[in-house]
Amino acid sequence: MKNILVIGSTGQIGSELTTALRACYGGDHVVAGYIPGAEPKGELAESGPSAIADVTNGEQLASIVREHQIDTIYNLAALLSVVAEQKPRLAWKIGIDGLWNVLEVARENKCAVFTPSSIGSFGPSTPHELTPQDTIQRPKTIYGVSKVATELLSDYYYTKYGVDTRSVRFPGLISYVTPPGGGTTDYAVDIFYAAVRGEKFHCPIAKGTRMDMMYMPDGLRAAMDLMEANPDKLIHRNGFNVTAMSFPPEKIYAEIRKRVPEFEMDYQVDPLKQSIAESWPDSLDDTAAREEWGWHPNFGLASMTRDMLEKLSQKLLG
Ligand code: SER
Repeated sequence: MKNILVIGSTGQIGSELTTALRACYGGDHVVAGYIPGAEPKGELAESGPSAIADVTNGEQLASIVREHQIDTIYNLAALLSVVAEQKPRLAWKIGIDGLWNVLEVARENKCAVFTPSSIGSFGPSTPHELTPQDTIQRPKTIYGVSKVATELLSDYYYTKYGVDTRSVRFPGLISYVTPPGGGTTDYAVDIFYAAVRGEKFHCPIAKGTRMDMMYMPDGLRAAMDLMEANPDKLIHRNGFNVTAMSFPPEKIYAEIRKRVPEFEMDYQVDPLKQSIAESWPDSLDDTAAREEWGWHPNFGLASMTRDMLEKLSQKLLG
């Protein structure tokens, strides 16, 4: 039986991943790590133990790991791409100094570690169409720089110390549960909130700009399946390309309009978000993940849109 620590359990991914892990491994076996001011609430608070787990505090992490006999850490602490551009030093402190703490604790206590990478680990010189698993990674954002360093440092701890590090490069994750904050792909979540609230959507990303996306249930499964994968089959480790769909704003708008015909959208392009979006792939090749650990998405654009509109309507309109 696994004993798991989720660092960042109240964030965009953590809030749902913690619940999914508890459903799989039992509530008592999954510690919801949080920082003061972002305490778990409701089901997350009631379904299992929680602890203050500040990724910048290695001692604190070590004592949680020892107390709960943790053998697996999901390290989800990070600033997303746009907010990281405003706070680059903090992005590094959380993403890299924090990762160092996690990896050291994992080395000392023989834990496996999952730390997400991202489509943000690619840059303008990366081939944009069917971006290969192994290719040029020269990102221009501090978010991307920290994600490339995350992949490399995680690989380093595996080859040098045998720490069982694994990760995927997440595309934009779309969910109706916890909204993202400060990412470039956030528009693909915000558009659903506008549609359900009956508001006009001002799209910050220009027409024709494609990015990879994924519905959160697939994202959770990707993380959990990779951590359960047979290590003998893994040729890669840190930074598997995974994707479920790739679309420009006009395509998701058209898909939503099939169900909400009165929904309106215009473009108010945000220059920072647009320049980041243009530097990222248009579509990823996720063959390595499919071949090495059986990755496949369950949701495409149409099925995700149907589910998002249904669930978000229940959440916002009751
Ligand atoms: N969703 C992230 C962002 O937009 C990318 O991984 O910053």
